[in-house]
Amino acid sequence: MLNQDRILNPSFNKLIITAEQAVSHFETGMAVASSGFTKAGDSKAVLNALAERSKNDPLQITLVTGASLGHGTDGILAESGALKMRFPFQVDPVMRKSINNGKVPFIDQHLGETAELLKNKNFPDLDIAIIEAVCIQEDGSIIPTTSVGNSAIFAKLAKKIIIEINTAVPLSVAGVHDVFLTGEYPNHSVIPISHASTRIGESAIKIDTDKVIGIVFTEIQDSPAEIVPPDAATIAIAGHLLKFFNKEVESGKLTKSLLPLQAGIGKVANAVLQGFVDSDFENLTMYSEVLQDSTFDLFDSGKLLYASGSSITVSSGYYDKIFGDFEKYKDKIIIRPQDITNAGEVIRRLGVIAINTAIECDIYGNVNSSHIGGTHMMNGIGGSGDFARNSYLSIFVTQAAGKGETISRIVPMVSHTDHTEHDVDVIVTDQGLADLRGLSPRQRALVVIENCAHPDYREELLDYFTRACETRGGQTPHMLEEAFSWHTTLRETGTMKKKKAEAPELV
Ligand code: COA
Repeated sequence: MLNQDRILNPSFNKLIITAEQAVSHFETGMAVASSGFTKAGDSKAVLNALAERSKNDPLQITLVTGASLGHGTDGILAESGALKMRFPFQVDPVMRKSINNGKVPFIDQHLGETAELLKNKNFPDLDIAIIEAVCIQEDGSIIPTTSVGNSAIFAKLAKKIIIEINTAVPLSVAGVHDVFLTGEYPNHSVIPISHASTRIGESAIKIDTDKVIGIVFTEIQDSPAEIVPPDAATIAIAGHLLKFFNKEVESGKLTKSLLPLQAGIGKVANAVLQGFVDSDFENLTMYSEVLQDSTFDLFDSGKLLYASGSSITVSSGYYDKIFGDFEKYKDKIIIRPQDITNAGEVIRRLGVIAINTAIECDIYGNVNSSHIGGTHMMNGIGGSGDFARNSYLSIFVTQAAGKGETISRIVPMVSHTDHTEHDVDVIVTDQGLADLRGLSPRQRALVVIENCAHPDYREELLDYFTRACETRGGQTPHMLEEAFSWHTTLRETGTMKKKKAEAPELV
């Protein structure tokens, strides 16, 4: 298939191959990098063909991406046994199972750090990079599609490059990307972003064209984001948070434009952003990772001036709406590499307000974002840690209790810690909001229990805290023999409600 609009330098036409031909270049032991960030801009043909090939012709590779892949690709690869190692993020149920049963070794990594790890040679050299593009320009540079992720650093470091040109993505996205490479130590450059809208790089990824071993055409849209509509709990969370922001404005700490917003993945974060649509806030900006449906609702409502992210990950209805008339949004959006969107330096400079979702929080403000029951990987830490540590305000949201209230999301001690109490300013549940700034651990515990815990669990959390203070004391009182009894009770009985008061006797 030839497409003059998509390959502007005819000398590249000779490199057009099928996905099946492309995978003949892969060998066991290779480190393969693929574009793709939260299901946007991922390899849709070559990785799938690789999984198909590995069913009859077993091979094993290490796979590194920007973040999660769509179209079940992670699951197909995991199932086919083709993965020797996977990092830095995934959201696929089949892959999740393979990680948790030990079949696929997985490195759960801050998304802002993968590029550094690769550049600093703390990882084997990349053999092949697969990059989705809307077109190849005359000079051979490539225009990415719906994400930039780690694509630029992959293209720079990999020995060989395969380009997937996706004709389902309109050429009008050209110009929305801002590709910037920070360089290497000791000459790592400053990232000169002083506003969410600051452009610092190029609109295309420059590549060494001699490395291109194949160009594959596809016409497949990104997997749609599964956006769950706001429900009573998520609306309540958004309400508490908006009230809090209003108070910050009344006290003169913030203006009605707040500071650049970051919102993580998940139904709660999306509902919170949605809550801004009918609020008094105005001239908002986003310095985030993923631009979701709610970002475009905020643009349409006139509340949002500008949004910077590493991908556009939207539901199917929004996909057509946004890419059918991309010019409407293009001058309000920048899509950057993920080591730029998630750079601590920039997040701190801009004073980002980070809103991420917790699996569980403990009474002292430590947060678990990644592990169910302390052992089983859900998705990964993603970018939440990059933002939580460096933001002006680090907010974590979660429902007070889940699965028919059988699981309290506020527990005595988190079963896995992604964000320590030092990185968490505010916790919000449907029950209320705990502003932890300026509070000691013992003061935090009382505010978290009172404001955020579900009523079914409040008394028992208070009882745990009181007995921990009385019997153990300390800066952060805990009865270690009982701290995880809520989790073990859940595992044994299917609910945290039963038997949790039957604490082991203290000796
Ligand atoms: N024990 C057992 N199961 C739990 C649990 C707990 N403490 N907490 C959550 N779960 C389960 C839920 O029941 C739900 O399961 P289901 O799909 O079978 O119903 C699932 O985990 C997801 O939880 P939910 O409350 O629906 O949350 P969500 O869709 O808002 O996602 C995270 C929450 C934490 C999993 C998600 O935000 C995430 O992966 N975060 C880490 C990455 C990140 O923050 N990135 C930010 C930058 S993009």
